[in-house]
Amino acid sequence: MRPTVRLPPLPHRETGDGIRVRFATAVDIDRVVDLEAEAFSDAWTRSSFEQLLSDTRSLFAVACGDDGLVHGYVVAWYVADEGEIANLAVASTSRRRGIGGMLLDTALDAARTRNTASVYLEVRDSNESARSLYASRGFEQVMRRRRYYRAPTEDALVLKLDLRQPPTDAPR
Ligand SMILES: CC(C)(COP(=O)(O)OP(=O)(O)OC[C@H]1O[C@@H](n2cnc3c(N)ncnc32)[C@H](O)[C@@H]1OP(=O)(O)O)[C@@H](O)C(=O)NCCC(=O)NCCS
Repeated sequence: MRPTVRLPPLPHRETGDGIRVRFATAVDIDRVVDLEAEAFSDAWTRSSFEQLLSDTRSLFAVACGDDGLVHGYVVAWYVADEGEIANLAVASTSRRRGIGGMLLDTALDAARTRNTASVYLEVRDSNESARSLYASRGFEQVMRRRRYYRAPTEDALVLKLDLRQPPTDAPR
């Protein structure tokens, strides 16, 4: 079993019904792979998730209840002053309970901790729920990648969030 790498601690985040975010470990992989297959037609492989456990540039976190059940996960990576939300999913039976937002906010917290200037992500054009979630956190469309996704073929929207707002009293 790979050791899980040490990253700066995650700030405490919890939904109203007691679901919290923590770093993913090797014991979460089976559940994450199942959730991935449920959420995406072009699912990541098991080894993609396993490799994240030892990658210090990545955040791989899960949302977990008191009973230990994993309800969702987020993957983000950070290089220089840019971040990318690479994966985010919540179990179909656990949606609209604030878990996706909590996972996204955790990835944005980690970006701020690393002094990241901008965070990017790609989303399917038709994915209204995810687009609505990202818009609620201030992401804006910067590009469209035509026919980027397969199964089914679809455009990707590239969204960006600027984390460094100019100070309001900055000289102009
Ligand atoms: C997108 C996803 C992660 C959202 O997770 P979630 O736990 O349901 O999200 P939350 O409950 O935190 O919702 C936060 C906000 O997102 C928006 N939102 C989420 N689902 C929505 C939906 N079905 N319709 C409209 N808005 C939605 C709302 O603004 C919501 O706030 P509100 O509940 O106060 O109205 C989840 O739907 C999912 O796993 N989808 C499949 C995988 C996927 O598409 N991942 C993103 C790939 S880019």
